[in-house]
Amino acid sequence: MANDTAVWGILGALDREVASLRAEMAVDRVESALGAEFAFGVLRGRRVAVACCGVGKVNAAACATWLLCARGCGLILNAGIAGAVGHGLRTLDVVASRELCFHDQDPVMLKYFPKRRLFAGDPGLLALCRRACARPGVLQGAYREGRVATGDRFVADRATRDRIAAACAPDCVEMEGAAIAHVAFAAGKPCLVIRTMSDCADDEADVAYDDFIDRAADQSARIVLAMLEEAWA
Ligand code: ADE
Repeated sequence: MANDTAVWGILGALDREVASLRAEMAVDRVESALGAEFAFGVLRGRRVAVACCGVGKVNAAACATWLLCARGCGLILNAGIAGAVGHGLRTLDVVASRELCFHDQDPVMLKYFPKRRLFAGDPGLLALCRRACARPGVLQGAYREGRVATGDRFVADRATRDRIAAACAPDCVEMEGAAIAHVAFAAGKPCLVIRTMSDCADDEADVAYDDFIDRAADQSARIVLAMLEEAWA
């Protein structure tokens, strides 16, 4: 993991995913860049930069690059919601990114930098997340360290879900994580993606999403807060 003085870059795709972090932090400046608003300040005693990066791989990659390369953040977290795909996973369960991949990537891409199908979650951040999730009152569901698959598509039908499951066997699907992990890999900085399941990426996904988005987004934000606290312990 990065050193103790590193600024933590924290991204969520939706306002809802960063709202409670923004509400709790002491903001000392706000910068606008690349279509996003970045709040810099202190959260649970640590320097952070928090932004809603917008939905999809390019928005996420742009904001991650800006935080890591233009503003020198020492690590990057992505917190939010996802569709559950892995066996036994239910709404409000958590997946922390042991590894990440793109489910919409042509294999020809493997010939070009960074020549890899999987990006690893940082082991130190993963251990911190595990400790944070073991704290009383943080989790409403089960905790899993698993594979996050990212693509520019909201997965809301059984056929697409099954196709993605057969192709890359993810625990969950979302739309930003692997893009952020790819940038962190290229920048040589630690990264972790933390997702609470809002739906099961199936034919009922749209309805479940509306029912669970608030609780799922708040839980992922709560995990980030617990990680910030646990980092002092
Ligand atoms: N984020 C939350 N649920 C999702 C789904 N079913 N597909 C893609 N991204 C998601």
